[in-house]
Amino acid sequence: MSRIYEALQKAESERKVERQGNEPRLPAEEMSPTSAAAATLEYDLPTSFSEPQVVPSIAEQHPLGELNPNVIPRFPWNPSVDRLPSLLERGPAIEQFRSLRSRVYEARDIRPIKSILVSSGLPQEGKSFISANLAVSLARHKNSKVLLIDGDMRRYTLHELLGTESHPGLAEYLAGKATVEQIMQRPDENQGSANHALANLTFIPGGNGGDKAADLSGSARFGELLRLAAPYFDWIIVDSSPVVPVSDGVNLARSCDGVLLVARAGVTKYAVAQRATSELRASNVLGFVLNAVHENPQTGSYYGYNSNKE
Ligand SMILES: Nc1ncnc2c1ncn2[C@@H]1O[C@H](COP(=O)(O)OP(=O)(O)O)[C@@H](O)[C@H]1O
Ligand SMILES: [Mg+2]
Repeated sequence: MSRIYEALQKAESERKVERQGNEPRLPAEEMSPTSAAAATLEYDLPTSFSEPQVVPSIAEQHPLGELNPNVIPRFPWNPSVDRLPSLLERGPAIEQFRSLRSRVYEARDIRPIKSILVSSGLPQEGKSFISANLAVSLARHKNSKVLLIDGDMRRYTLHELLGTESHPGLAEYLAGKATVEQIMQRPDENQGSANHALANLTFIPGGNGGDKAADLSGSARFGELLRLAAPYFDWIIVDSSPVVPVSDGVNLARSCDGVLLVARAGVTKYAVAQRATSELRASNVLGFVLNAVHENPQTGSYYGYNSNKE
């Protein structure tokens, strides 16, 4: 059994403490300093650090212009319900993501937010799972229009969850090789009930940033993309790479209104979560989502999400 737990309100009160001059702290009871295993570090650690570079002359190649939502191409998505449980009509996962969605709405009541980057310290902690399911949950509520962006241009996976094409995507756009309408996708509502359920979702896949992902993520063109898209969407959710091994997520976060951090229960070490918070200190960290918690059957919630058919 597992559940997703958000600590947004707690993080907000911690930010108040931080503003008074103290170091940011993580909610101790949500983080296990004695976690069983650390996430595998799959990314190559940079040997030296340099300032993010702005890719020059891109705006001249493909001026941003206006976004016309009516010309966004429709794709026959084939989403994976196993990896997108928020697509179901009912069930425990729906409750968990509703709860996360409510916390996000509460955060917006405190301070206006539209674009939220989802990140974590290391790979495999659940960033893509949380960002995709949060986006779907938001898109199925109050007729909200949601843009989901795969900002992990190295290990992009969101197209797999949606069952669609991965190119052209954000990387090609930031490199000036594609226009905004060329990288956006909408579901073809005539292609089955799942596509119909995702009618309010627009998707930008990762594209292939490869070795250039760090430079691309530092491009001013990302902020311009968000400004261009903002009038047409209620929410913009951005998945990202882990922030400990690479700087891409920190770069993208500079253009977002808020950041949600993910920690995986029993996996994410306290020091890694702390380091992730520290890397993103210049951004508005809304709080942590504790992902894949294994409930004690005697204390677990009755609607705990059984994600892996145990
Ligand atoms: N709460 C969860 N329940 C079930 N599977 C999960 C959960 N969170 C993540 N996973 C799975 O764990 C793997 C890693 O998650 P992912 O979101 O890709 O991590 P990241 O984006 O941080 O690298 C994926 O196979 C994903 O489907
Ligand atoms: Mg991912």
